[in-house]
Amino acid sequence: MKNLKQLAIKHKSDKHGSHFYTDIYESFMFAKKNKPIKILEIGVGGYINGNYSDPYLGGESLKMWRDYFKKGRIAGLDIFKKEIKLGNRVKIFQGSQNNTTTLSQIVKEYKKFDFIVDDGSHKSKDVIFSFKCLFSSLKQGGYYFIEDTQSSYIRELGGDGAYLNNKKTAVNYFKGLVDKINYQEIENPFYEPDYFAKNTTEIHFFHNMIVIKKEKNLEKSNILVKNRRLVGGTSYVALRKFIKNFKYLALHLKSKIN
Ligand SMILES: C[S@@+](CC[C@H](N)C(=O)[O-])C[C@H]1O[C@@H](n2cnc3c(N)ncnc32)[C@H](O)[C@@H]1O
Repeated sequence: MKNLKQLAIKHKSDKHGSHFYTDIYESFMFAKKNKPIKILEIGVGGYINGNYSDPYLGGESLKMWRDYFKKGRIAGLDIFKKEIKLGNRVKIFQGSQNNTTTLSQIVKEYKKFDFIVDDGSHKSKDVIFSFKCLFSSLKQGGYYFIEDTQSSYIRELGGDGAYLNNKKTAVNYFKGLVDKINYQEIENPFYEPDYFAKNTTEIHFFHNMIVIKKEKNLEKSNILVKNRRLVGGTSYVALRKFIKNFKYLALHLKSKIN
């Protein structure tokens, strides 16, 4: 029984060699190796003469997933038509990762995925779009992987190497999710946790890769109650308001005396 790295080498997937992703993948996937999982990979590959358009090339990683998850169903998506035959457990869709209709078509057929891998255009806008669109189609306990996040630092790929806080890059979008994971800890009773906040429990930043775990985020804060700080049984926010009002009252009374 081969591990993921051996299968990547066998099928010439660049997930090992050119990159070093297989050990990371396996650490999240091993527990489901023998289960009837569903996995979607955006980007089928097959690079020749400067582009990916050859319909008979690519699918190296799809073969790797097929052989790793012996009972798995594998979906691939590519902007180019791909005519590679990889057996009846693998299906390749054509379309763009930034097209809602394409993504809905895949979701309609597979319902929910255990794993989603984004190895497509690597443009920040597309990466963020696909994540927002597909996260609800990830099973509870599932993982979403984003490869080649170095693109967030390269201008030609929609990244920014000069202003590292540029809100448009994928890396910065996922840094923002860190606050959402901690929504219970934000001292602001007006903070509204969204679907991502309520369903994310892990975000891992690796070199060139981000991994997000979907799971109900229900752990309560050990300090705040409903996003308020209690001081001696009183809400800290209410206490601050009281002190502020008291200050105004004191100023008012002082002006009367003078
Ligand atoms: C790095 S290759 C994928 C390699 C493949 N995942 C593997 O590991 O064997 C990137 C692929 O993404 C595809 N692609 C580029 N832009 C895309 C988009 N907007 N939507 C879907 N696929 C796209 C390219 O045609 C190319 O096949």
